[in-house]
Amino acid sequence: METTTIASEKGGVGKSTCTLGLGAELARRGARVGIIDLDPRSTATTWLGVDVPPGEHIGAILGQDDVAGAAADLALTSPWHPNLTVVPGSRDLAALETAPQEYGDLRLRRALEGWDRDVVLIDSPNRQGGFLIRSALTASDRILYTTTPDEDGRTGVEWARSNVARFRQLSPLNPDLREAGVIITRWPDTIATRDALGALEALEQDNDGLLLRPFIPERVIVRSSRAGEVWWGDYVKGLPVVEAFAGLADQLWPAYARLESEA
Ligand SMILES: Nc1ncnc2c1ncn2[C@@H]1O[C@H](COP(=O)(O)OP(=O)(O)O)[C@@H](O)[C@H]1O
Ligand SMILES: [Mg+2]
Repeated sequence: METTTIASEKGGVGKSTCTLGLGAELARRGARVGIIDLDPRSTATTWLGVDVPPGEHIGAILGQDDVAGAAADLALTSPWHPNLTVVPGSRDLAALETAPQEYGDLRLRRALEGWDRDVVLIDSPNRQGGFLIRSALTASDRILYTTTPDEDGRTGVEWARSNVARFRQLSPLNPDLREAGVIITRWPDTIATRDALGALEALEQDNDGLLLRPFIPERVIVRSSRAGEVWWGDYVKGLPVVEAFAGLADQLWPAYARLESEA
């Protein structure tokens, strides 16, 4: 099992979309994918179209001591794909953030043990530091950042990276955590605006060698499929977005890469 946290300290910069885009692509390739929805707004859970039984969400992991096997118990299969499961988020998570418990940030890591998933993706909230993101970093092998090509996205990555640097410096819990790259999403590929090109240049300077390609193009179908709680890949208009996530999945999960002949 390989666990990746998707992070930024700004909202609206594509964290949930990238989590689901990569998750759906890997599930299609045969990987057993588990998504952990750590965001109190629970966008990923809603978008994946699962029905959450009362109380059976990630809060049941982060708020209790006896968590062995909990991720496997709480996971629900998404109608998007049989290989795609999610441990649902909940608004109750916000309360845990303000009243963290002793050793609480070790629980998620423990709860993932024994889960029959090849790939785990953690969708995180845009908070500065805090209990939820610490739980995610403690449980992860690596971290991926997402950004839109603008100042907000750039700041979100900058702050998230400085938080990860502090975590690595101060916490002995996960010395092997690595930065896997920065994904640029909502890229205006039809007409790359001056603002977007300027932001790209700044992102390249800030994040030397970390920017991943291809960029995820901006497409209206992504937003409308979110409202419909379905996957954009079911629509012809969503295929450029699927193709971009496929290109990223090839690099980030080489064990599930497409054969060169089919790429
Ligand atoms: N490639 C894209 N094309 C068009 N809209 C997108 C794209 N990626 C994300 N969005 C939209 O941008 C908004 C923010 O994305 P989201 O993934 O929820 O960000 P975050 O999780 O960082 O808050 C959502 O309305 C989402 O549907
Ligand atoms: Mg989100």
